[in-house]
Amino acid sequence: MTAQDFIPKSYSKNLENGSFTWSSPSNIALVKYWGKKEHQIPANPSISFTLDACKTTTTIKFKKKIKLNNSFSFDIYLDGDKKDHFKPKIETFFKRIEQFLPFLKDYHFVIETSNTFPHSSGIASSASGMSALALCLMSIEKQLIESDVTLSAVERSFDDNYFIRKSSFLARLGSGSACRSLEGDLVVWGQHFEITGSSNLYGIKYPFEVHDNFRNYHDTILLVDKGEKQVSSTVGHDLMHNHPFALQRFEQANNNLSKIIDVLKTGNLKTFIEIIENEALMLHAMMMTSVPYFILMKPNTLEIINKIWKFRQQTGLHISFTLDAGANVHVLYPAKESKQIYEFINSELVAYCQNGHYICDRIGFGAKQLPI
Ligand code: DP6
Repeated sequence: MTAQDFIPKSYSKNLENGSFTWSSPSNIALVKYWGKKEHQIPANPSISFTLDACKTTTTIKFKKKIKLNNSFSFDIYLDGDKKDHFKPKIETFFKRIEQFLPFLKDYHFVIETSNTFPHSSGIASSASGMSALALCLMSIEKQLIESDVTLSAVERSFDDNYFIRKSSFLARLGSGSACRSLEGDLVVWGQHFEITGSSNLYGIKYPFEVHDNFRNYHDTILLVDKGEKQVSSTVGHDLMHNHPFALQRFEQANNNLSKIIDVLKTGNLKTFIEIIENEALMLHAMMMTSVPYFILMKPNTLEIINKIWKFRQQTGLHISFTLDAGANVHVLYPAKESKQIYEFINSELVAYCQNGHYICDRIGFGAKQLPI
């Protein structure tokens, strides 16, 4: 599919008003997206676990504008409070997706959003937030098309696969990693020669066999630093332009994705750990070796990593970590070892978290529409 396939045939904007609610989770990349080309095209393919507990719920209320004009009209609320400083991000998103959703300038929108995780947790809400918003907007398009009596019955029928695909396509234009949040439990984004159907334009559900070792995998997120991100994702991805190791990094990501296919099939946890920890450290290595350079890990991030390695060596249990572009640590482990590992986290690692805060999450199955 190409971007052109997401430009709909014209339809009339007959609805006066309405409302939709979607809840969409965050995700954690195993093979990382770091570096992009124009129009949110990733420099390399990535794969993620969809999370379950960390999610955003968004309601969009829409009302036909009394007087049409050439601008977007919307208000945005987080936990009931008006947030005008979120507007530029949404405005940019609307500009990027306008050609794919031709109704955007015909309505005034009230966007009400809330996250299950605290805003100041250092956990980015862009993946869950942008995917929830994209789904709400797609629900409006679906309703407009289905209720347009000037269209033929065939033109009015809306395919579920197309709905998810276009929602993921739109979410990507809001934030790249958001296109991996709609489905579960594993999602691939970015073209990879071994993964049938993979695309740079949207995420797809991982199409191959997954071993039972990865069912219900746990992710305990240790909140080492709850401050604002030191490096925004825009600045971060930009660091890969003219980066001395960029080409090697993109090749490595492709190779790691190839390797993880076999690992996911056979349940080889040892190699799984090698791949994801290598990916996490490589992401940070890229930041440390770019110009300008950044160190996003904190002393406690390293304390935690060293403790995890020591515990793994002593017990033989399959505890591992991955990192985002920040200091927080995602501790990943299989469900069948969760009791012992959770005890270790509680007694040894929580002390390194800011105010002792952490979030218990696990693999989830994607976004859900909630009743109005
Ligand atoms: C380190 O998706 O936040 O989490 O497309 O600019 O919004 P934008 O970037 P974003 O980047 C996420 C980077 C990452 C790795 C990953 O999730 O794959």
